[in-house]
This record gives sequence, C-alpha cells and structure tokens, in this order.
Amino acid sequence: MRAAVFIILLLPVCWTKPFQQLGFLDFMMEDEGVEGSGTVPPLLEVTPRPGRPGRPGQPVTPVIPTPPPCPFGCRCHLRVIQCSDLGLKEVPDKIPVDTTLLDLQNNKIGKIKENDFKNMKFVQILILVNNKITTIDPKAFAGLVSLQRLHLSKNLLKSVPQNMPKSLQELRLHENEIAEVKKSAFDGLSNLIVIELGTNPFKNSGIEKAAFQGLKKLSYIRIADTNITTIPQGLPSSLSELHLDGNSITRVDADSLKGLNNLAKLGLSYNKITTVENGSLANVPHLRELHLDHNVLTKIPAGLQDHKYIQVVYLHNNKIAAIDTNDFCPPGFNTKKASYSGISLFSNPVQYWEVPPSAFRCIFNRGAVHLGNYK
Ligand SMILES: *[C@@H]1O[C@H](CO)[C@@H](O)[C@H](O)[C@H]1NC(C)=O
Ligand SMILES: *[C@@H]1O[C@H](CO)[C@@H](O)[C@H](O)[C@H]1NC(C)=O
Repeated sequence: MRAAVFIILLLPVCWTKPFQQLGFLDFMMEDEGVEGSGTVPPLLEVTPRPGRPGRPGQPVTPVIPTPPPCPFGCRCHLRVIQCSDLGLKEVPDKIPVDTTLLDLQNNKIGKIKENDFKNMKFVQILILVNNKITTIDPKAFAGLVSLQRLHLSKNLLKSVPQNMPKSLQELRLHENEIAEVKKSAFDGLSNLIVIELGTNPFKNSGIEKAAFQGLKKLSYIRIADTNITTIPQGLPSSLSELHLDGNSITRVDADSLKGLNNLAKLGLSYNKITTVENGSLANVPHLRELHLDHNVLTKIPAGLQDHKYIQVVYLHNNKIAAIDTNDFCPPGFNTKKASYSGISLFSNPVQYWEVPPSAFRCIFNRGAVHLGNYK
C-alpha cells in the first residue's frame, strides 16, 4: 500500500521532467530520504523468478527490474546520452550500444582506453571537450564506424589522435598541447570537412607541409592563436575558409595560396604581416573576405583592383602611409563583378584628407568605406 502511494506521487514528477530520467538507484535513495527509515519498499510487485522460488520461511529474492540502459548519473533520451559535468575520471561503461550522440564534456577523464567505445557503431557525435585527456589508445576509435564529429577541444593532448574513423567530417582539437602536426596526421580521412586546431603551441613549422593535402572535401581550417610563422603549405583546393588569425605570420607568399580556387574567406588578423606578395590575390580568384587588420602592412596589398569578387577588406590597425588612386578599383571602366561592401582603413598613418576620393570610384555603397582618424 505504501509502495503504491509512493509510485503515484512520483509518476507526475517524472512526466513533467522528461530529461530527468532517474536510474533505479536514484529511486531508492530518494525513497530513503523521504522515509528516513532505511527500509526500501519494493517499487514493483515482487514475483519470484521461475526456477528460483523463495525457500519456505525465507523472504522471496526480489527481482530487480531492468533499469533503462543509462549509465549512472547520465541523462538518456532517445539515443542521446548526456554525461557532462559529472566529475567522471573515465568513460562510463554500459553505454547503450545504439547511442548516436555521446556527450562527456566537462569531466575529468584522463585517458581514453582501447575498449572505451567498443561496439559503439552508431555514434555520430562524440563530445569530449574540457576533460584532462593526455592519451588516447591507438585502437580506441576503431569501433566508431559512423563517427562524424569528434570534439576534443580543451584537453591535454600532445598529438593528433591516431586511427580516427574514415567517416569523420568534423575534428575539433582547439586548446590542447599539440606542438606539431605530422604530414600523415589526417591520412585516409577523406570525408573531413572541418578542422579546428587553434590555441595549440605550434612552433614556426609546427604544421608539416602537405598535412592537409589529401583531404579532398576539406572546406574549413582554423588554426588561430598559435605561434605559426607561415601559412601552412599544400592546402587542398576544396578549401573555402582559412582562419589563421592571432599567429606570428610575417608575410603572405603567393605560392601558399596557389590553387585555392574555392577560397572565399581568408582570416589573417593579428599577425605580423609586412608584405602580401603580388600574385597572392590572383591565386584566390573567388575570395570574398580578406581580414588583414592588426598587422604591420605599409601598403595596400597588390591585386585588389583586378579582383572580381572581393567585397570585404579589413586593413585597419596597420602602418599604411599612402593610398593610390588604383589600389582598390580597376583603372578604366569597372570590371569588378561584386562591389565592395566593407573596407576598413582606420588606425593607419594615412590621413583621410590625403586619400584621393577617386580611389573609391567603384564603390557605390556610401557606408562601405571606414576611414576614421589616426590618433
Ligand atoms: C606563443 O608564444 C608566446 C611567447 O613565446 C607564448 O607566451 C604563448 O603561450 C605561445 N602560444 C601558444 C598557443 O603556445
Ligand atoms: C603585380 O603583378 C602584375 C602582374 O604581373 C603587374 O601587372 C602589377 O603591376 C604588379 N603590381 C605591383 C604593385 O607590383
């Protein structure tokens, strides 16, 4: 009777909070708190298992109902398993084999062991952000044959994990302790679309030449806030966004952008760039946005006037001392196919009254040019 009342009181609570799926042990602990007596009333009617009848004079062995297959403390809904913020020191076992999203972020996991993700062939998204992972067993990802997104940012990894699944599309390794990326680091990952490697202690040549070369679908690379001094060599022609802000790059070589026919956004803000080699812009004919603010350029990069599609050019906070009448616009009649929508030139030594108004003759949007004042 007492048990029946307890269940009736508890059920509506469960219904109003669909994500607070409690494990069997949670029920028992909660009940203990309520009753204060330490006796646990059976939640379900106890029936002895066939073949194991209670012996006369002894209590019937209760059959513990099979709890929903959810690791202790985690929240499980449909095939999404959320085990974040639990102080876990290792990957929990008994993760349901049909899981498609496994979220283990904000824990204290230090190592990924060989069998941690064994048999988890349906997982598409694995989130391990903000743990203390130093090592990953080379075989740990072998069973994750459907994995598309692997988020390992904010850990203590010293190298790019080995043997990542071929199905992988997105790899995030931001804020780790990786000092170099070997040429073979991404071998075989022909489905990769997004790579995030920012805030790692890469030195000058931390990224080996051609590390990204075989990645025919790669569209987005971000390597911001490291100490690389050159643009990585041998980038794939599929690339549409390259974000290299906050590094120590000193110049843009035309060769490093060769063949990047699909590049639309190039981020090079907050570097130490003095020179953009003539020919660089011709190598990226479909560029739409070029961010070169917070560098030490003394001239407007050559080749803007011949570029057909560029629309946004950030050049503020540089050392540009003069602007020529043909720096932005083609001489003669306008051959630009897309008009500029944003040019920033403030915080440069050039004074706005020294800029020939004809320099912007191909710009029809009056708000597009930000000249500002140089203090
Ligand atoms: C880059 O170098 C500076 C100076 O040596 C250092 O303080 C900083 O931590 C380095 N950045 C990274 C991401 O390692
Ligand atoms: C850049 O190169 C092109 C093609 O060789 C040339 O016509 C142009 O004058 C050069 N621009 C500068 C600023 O050197």
